Order: sequence, then C-alpha cells, then structure tokens
Amino acid sequence: MSYSYQIKSLEQYRETYKKSVEDPEGFWGVIAKQFSWKRPWDKVLDWNFTGPEIKWFAGGKLNITENCLDRHLEKLADKPAIIWEPNDPSENNRILTYKELYREVCKFAQVLRNNQVKKGDRVCIYMPMVPELPIAVLACARIGAIHSVVFGGFSAQSIADRIQDAQCSIVITSDGGFRGNKEIPLKSVIDEALLSSPSAKKVIVLKRTQSLVMMKPGRDLWWDEELKKVEAGSSQDFPAETMDAEDMLFILYTSGSTGKPKGVVHTCGGYMVYTNYSFVNTFQYRQGEVFFCTADIGWITGHSYIIYGPLSAGATSLMFEGIPTWPNAGRFWDIVDKYKVNILYTAPTAIRSLMGFGLDPVKGKDLSSLRILGTVGEPINEEAWHWYDEHIGKKKCPIVDTWWQTETGGILISNLAGVTPSKPAHATLPLPGIQPVLVDENGNVVEGTDAAQNAIDSKMPGELKSGNLCIKFPWPSIIRTTYGDHNRCFQNYFSAYKNLYFTGDGALVDEGGNYRITGRVDDVLNVSGHRIGTAEVENAINMHARVVESAVVGYPHDVKGQGIYAFVIRQGVQFDKEQDRKEIIQTVTKIIGAIAKPDKIQFVSGLPKTRSGKIMRRILRKIAEGETSNLGDTTTLLDPSVVEEIKNGKL
Ligand code: WTA
Repeated sequence: MSYSYQIKSLEQYRETYKKSVEDPEGFWGVIAKQFSWKRPWDKVLDWNFTGPEIKWFAGGKLNITENCLDRHLEKLADKPAIIWEPNDPSENNRILTYKELYREVCKFAQVLRNNQVKKGDRVCIYMPMVPELPIAVLACARIGAIHSVVFGGFSAQSIADRIQDAQCSIVITSDGGFRGNKEIPLKSVIDEALLSSPSAKKVIVLKRTQSLVMMKPGRDLWWDEELKKVEAGSSQDFPAETMDAEDMLFILYTSGSTGKPKGVVHTCGGYMVYTNYSFVNTFQYRQGEVFFCTADIGWITGHSYIIYGPLSAGATSLMFEGIPTWPNAGRFWDIVDKYKVNILYTAPTAIRSLMGFGLDPVKGKDLSSLRILGTVGEPINEEAWHWYDEHIGKKKCPIVDTWWQTETGGILISNLAGVTPSKPAHATLPLPGIQPVLVDENGNVVEGTDAAQNAIDSKMPGELKSGNLCIKFPWPSIIRTTYGDHNRCFQNYFSAYKNLYFTGDGALVDEGGNYRITGRVDDVLNVSGHRIGTAEVENAINMHARVVESAVVGYPHDVKGQGIYAFVIRQGVQFDKEQDRKEIIQTVTKIIGAIAKPDKIQFVSGLPKTRSGKIMRRILRKIAEGETSNLGDTTTLLDPSVVEEIKNGKL
C-alpha cells in the first residue's frame, strides 16, 4: 500500500481516510516508517478499551529527540528551529538553529544526568516562555526522564499537588517571568510549593528577570553554573537514551469533572508519529515556513505544536514570551510582520479579545506572509471566524478549526488547510485514522454519524445529527493512562459508553459529515480556552472560612467564551459582601491560580437540591445564563422557594 505523507487534495483525503479505517495497522505502519527508529516495532497495534490497554508500535525503540534534532542535522543544521520573541519588544530576540538547539539540549541533558536524574524519573518544569523551556523539555526526553510541565499561572498549592502526585525528584524553574507589564515570581512560588513536596530534592533555577530570590543551599542550583560545568567538559554530545515506543514521554495535568486534576500520560512512539502527521497535514507545512503557535508550553497545544510536531518535521517554530495586548493590541501583527510568519495558530479567546480593539492595531502591519490560520481550544463563534478571515487572513488564508484535547495528544478533527473545505465554526472532518461517532443518551450510536462506516459505505449522514462525541478506534497519541491511577483513566474516558473513548464534548454532524463541537457536556468549564473543573473551583471556594457551600457553573462570556459564576452560601451574613467576595477570589487564586477566579459571586441562602441532596446545576446554569422563565421541572426540589430567591438576586 502506498500513501503520500502529506495529503494534497480532497479526493486524496477521502481515499486515504477510507484506507486508514479499513486497515489502520497497515496505514500507521507505513506512516511510522518515516521516522528514525533504533529498532523496528514488532506489532503496530494491540488494544482494548476495557482496560484500557493500548500499545502502538510495541517492541519499537527510539528517542523522540533524535527525530526532532539529530536527524535534521545533515540538511537543516543552520535552519532556525526556534525563533524566540521576548515579552518586551525592545529586548533582543533569540534564534536557535537546529544545530544550536541540538547542542543546548545535549548540554542540559548532561546537567540533568550530573544531578542524578535517571530514565523514568519525573521532572517538574515550571518556567516562563523562554527557549530554556523547550530545551529543558527536550533534555528530559533525551535522557528518558518524564517531564511534567506546569503552567506558570498555577499556584503553589496546585504545583505541590502535581509534584506529589507524580513524585517528581527535581524541579526546573526560573527566578521569575515577564508577562506584559507584570513580573511573575516563579521561584518564590516553587519555594512555597516545596514546603509540602518532599519528593523534590533539587531545583535548577534559570536567571530570567534577575530578581532577588532565595537559594536554599544543597537544594537549589543555578542553571548557568550547572551549564558551565558541562561546557568545561570534553564532549558536548549526549547520546539519546533508547526508549521503548510505549515508555512514558510526559505527564500533563488537566481538569476533569472531579476535584482533582488528572495526570494524562503520553508515550514516546505513538505521540511522536501522531503529532508529526497531524502537524504536517493540518497546517500543510512547507519547508522553510515560519509557524507561530501562540499557546503556552504549559498546555498540550504548546507541547504538541510548539515543540514536538514542528521540530520533528524540521519546521521553524516561533515562540512568544508575552501576551497579545502588550505593549499594545497590535503585538501579534507586529510579530507576524517582523518574522514573516506563514502559519498562525491561536485561540478564539485571543481573536475575540483583539476584535474588541477594532482595526487600528492591524493597520499598517504587513500580514501578506500569512498563508494559513488556525484556531484551537474552544468553539469559535462565527463572528470571530469571519473577523479572523477578513482582517487577518484578508480572505486568502484557509482557517483550520482544530478540535482535540490533552488526552488526544494531537488534532483529531479539522479541515486540512486549503485541501479539505472549511466551514465557519465547524472543525469539519476527522483526520485519517480517526473514527468519531456520536452517541445518544442511551449510549446508542446515532445513525449516520459513524465517520468510518460512512467512508467504507461511501455514505453521508444526509441530515443534521447531534449527540455526545466519542471515538471508536485508537489512534497513536491516545491517552494511555492517568498517572498512578489506571482505573481512573478507565472510569473517566472508557466507562460511559462500552468500547468507546468518550471525549466529554457534545457535537453536531451536518449532512455532509462535518462535525461541529458545541462544548463540554460534563462539569468542565472552558474559560479562555483553559479547562477548569467546577468541582475544583468549588473545593477552593469552600476553603474560605466563612463559606458553607458553593456551586459553580459557566455562563456565556463575550471574550472568555465562558465565565465562572459561583453561588455561595456563607456563614454570618452580617459580614461585608464585597470583602467576602474579595477574600473568596484570593482564596481561589491561592489554591488553584488566577485562571480560576470566579467572574461573579452571588451569595445565596440555599442551593436548589433534589431530595437526595444533589445540586441541580441545570437550574443554576440557566439562571447564570440569564434565563428566568423556562427553568424546567423544579417540583422535585427539596425547597423550590430558593429558586425564586436566586433568580431575584442574579448578578
Ligand atoms: C475544547 C486543547 C471546539 C473541547 C487542545 C475539548 C474545542 C477541550 C476545540 C480540550 C475546537 C478544543 N472547537 N471546542 N476546535 N478545541 N476544544 O485539553 O471542549 O485544553 O474537550 O486541549 O477544549 O481542552 P484541552
């Protein structure tokens, strides 16, 4: 069987998709041959969703960094691998060629080895968006250590939970970080986190802000001093550790419907194959182009499409330290102009926020280098889609609306730029190898929504269908486990519907088979593209001494997509409401981080509960959305009168 690695036409897409679902092993076996393996695999795929037990390329040996770095040295040594644009435009930028990045990764791998980090050890990385972050990530991968990157906006408590859960032995951080006109004191947050994380014995600290930090003797080491020791040595190459395809590559924590974030685990072989394949096909990357993904490496988008996807494809990946609105709302367009960016990949929330500044920030910026635009992280509304298309892409750039998740490792449903048709607000079609279906509330597949079956039968859904989005067959970068608790992985993703991976999202499929993701159907919020569990926020609010109970729901927010609305019962109603609100927000910031701050806090005397004590979130959601009539059946409530009170007090 022969496939072209990069799909070039709609017809070729249809043909490839069909083959990929008729013979997934044959398909992925051919795709995976494109990479550099130290030993070939024995079997392409072994799987069941009842464990789950999923193995891709079993027996294969590799190191992902050899695929991201070493194999490019012959042809692309002097090509920029990473372009780094600093927060402050007046500071010097940095460009690392493939050869330079290779050197830096080897040196830092040696630093880790010198500090007794071994294959399989967990390493927590809490850093700003500077080149040393991907260097640290790749250095871990090079020695076979498992990285766990924690987003720079999380609190000490959140970091401590994550370090403890994974039993990380070392933390890599910096004195601080710059974001807009703010300085984030990363090291002091780590100091606090480590008070309750005994597994972490060492901290390597990069100097970024040059601010004064406490260095604990015997525990804390400066990045530059450790590097000097290596530079004084004879060899600066560092042989890549041999990894099994199914060895863990990294852990990334993400929110679910329970109070505790889950450590999503990805493995070396399948993740490499899929991030590369999805990158090359979705964005139709051409050698020499500059790819700018605006995500933070603390999230999955940064892992897959700043680091592993682009670098394994020999692309130039642009990373930006700052924020889109500083020093002004033209910053993205300045960057596109300055580096002649060809592909821009950002989030709907960023587009909506920039739309709010009007067209002045776009004026006079040369955006003619742009060839392709992308979005990710949440549903994009049509208005934002058209603004992006018209004012940024000048109606010449295909927009890819890419749907995926931390758990999926890479893009699963998206148009392929300029190759398969786009449709505003629709992620459209599954990538080859991806087999989505919609199920109804009884767990039955909704007729006509099985993409793979439709391809095999040469059929289309024919009419609009809706349901919960599931995937019925594994792909190489599917979640393997939740760290330390395999049963939780099963319960969360594979138990709702037998033999299906359940995404937690609701979706529609149009008559032509285009998927439109409508949003989460579980208790997970999507605030500015960040996943936040309502239970997590409630737990944090309940930590406040005067809070008795709380219930958190999402409501539509013009810029963030969803805002956080908290209904709170407090003790001692005589206290100042404003003061309590302030303190509750501070508590949430301290327990989770500023990203989970409630936008609205309404004090109530009771919550709508069923006789069995379950909070009826459906009613709260409707009230928060501004719906006051049509609240549905409230007769099963323990005390229907609280609903009136809550409605009257709506903020
Ligand atoms: C949502 C981010 C609509 C969805 C890569 C999913 C989207 C969650 C889209 C995963 C999209 C992501 N259209 N919704 N194109 N992309 N989502 O794990 O609800 O941070 O389940 O991964 O974001 O968020 P996560």
